[in-house]
Amino acid sequence: MPSTRRAFLGGLAAAGVLAPRLFVPAAKAAEARGGLGEAIAATARARWRFAAATADPAAAAADPALWTDVQQSWVVDRTLLNLENGGLQPSPALVTQAFIDAWMKANEAPSHTNSRILWPQVEQVRARLAAAFGCATEEMAITRNTTEGFLAVALGTRLEAGDEVLTTTHDYHRFRNAFHQREQREGIVLRAIPLPVPVEDPALVVERLAAAITPRTRVILLSHVFQLTGQVMPVREVVRLARTRDILVIVDGAHGFSHIPATRDELECDVYATSLHKWLSAPHGTGFLYVRKALIPSIWPLMPPTAKAPDDIRKFEAIGTASAAPFLAIAEALDFWAMIGTARKAARLVWLRERWLDRVASLPGVRLNTSRRPGRAGAIVNLDLEGLPPTKLAAWLWDRHRVLVAGVEHPEFQGIRVVPALYNTEAELDRFAELLTEARRRGLD
Ligand SMILES: Cc1ncc(COP(=O)(O)O)c(C=O)c1O
Repeated sequence: MPSTRRAFLGGLAAAGVLAPRLFVPAAKAAEARGGLGEAIAATARARWRFAAATADPAAAAADPALWTDVQQSWVVDRTLLNLENGGLQPSPALVTQAFIDAWMKANEAPSHTNSRILWPQVEQVRARLAAAFGCATEEMAITRNTTEGFLAVALGTRLEAGDEVLTTTHDYHRFRNAFHQREQREGIVLRAIPLPVPVEDPALVVERLAAAITPRTRVILLSHVFQLTGQVMPVREVVRLARTRDILVIVDGAHGFSHIPATRDELECDVYATSLHKWLSAPHGTGFLYVRKALIPSIWPLMPPTAKAPDDIRKFEAIGTASAAPFLAIAEALDFWAMIGTARKAARLVWLRERWLDRVASLPGVRLNTSRRPGRAGAIVNLDLEGLPPTKLAAWLWDRHRVLVAGVEHPEFQGIRVVPALYNTEAELDRFAELLTEARRRGLD
């Protein structure tokens, strides 16, 4: 190649113009696609098994034969052990296939197939999501993630200078930043209170928040489940407390929906934003925002809609041109969840947690930042091994053993965050427990 052309191409590459087309080598991608068929067949077998299985959640959770086909319903890289399912979960192959099918359909003649055929079908997904959460269809907006839904309410709710927003230091940092921006722009005040770690008694959360409420408090931001410790918050009790004082509670449900069983009526909440690419294992870039009907007109959407009425929940979905494919495939993810059942899924997630935790909890120097009391957590655990800094332990697990967990350093606690998901096997969790035992005995060198 002439040197001038090489230099030219080199310049383009440096500018990122000639970036690789695929991040996954083509052969690996083809292999994964081939594996979709086998994984979909495993889901078909799982369907038969679950239809005939015990309805008792604890018995179902502990029956290994019941979960083999579920574990095989995913095409995941088993050369690594992924226990970092908190940020984003993989989808079962069936869901990925539904997404691919819809994506292909959308591309046949997009103005016709995407806009006229596929988008109208998203209304059925709206109805199904509303039924799953227990709200009205007209209270359910389909979003791309929790962030989109949450920010619509956090930025679109009227607040005056001096009005206060109350939250905890354990809530999602980015969402606290949304209110920090309003502090700078509009002079509101954000107050974040610390909580004990772990939170063994949910009543204490209510007490602490109640004590921090002032006559200027207008909004409480509270996670359904804390992302760093996995602790379940007493949402209903906080909503009851807030309602008597005319305070809006915005529930960050990123880690709640399809993880910790709870319907709208059980939570009694007015606003709930979640991501479906976490615990529902729906396609990446899917979420929902629930807003109680009476409140919809009072909240400005993030992106002004074209012709939507102020009381139409769809005003929160006005993002411009987009593919209907990820949203349509949510239906398959809901089917997958229904096949397992809410109670059996929740019990299994706790069972997976206990499978590894039971083996390491009594090691010397273990500090648990997550309560193991019934109902206080699901699959997410934060655990500190005294003398082993969490980021170093996480690096050791990844660099030496290809095990993925998150190292967490928070001003009030530290530890590794371990998040198994339904596709993780018993053998994988046993191996993880052995590795922690080895780290405890021999250190990280
Ligand atoms: C508690 C919590 N809230 C909100 C989010 C944001 O979720 P997303 O990036 O899917 O919008 C996360 C992400 O991990 C989270 O952990």
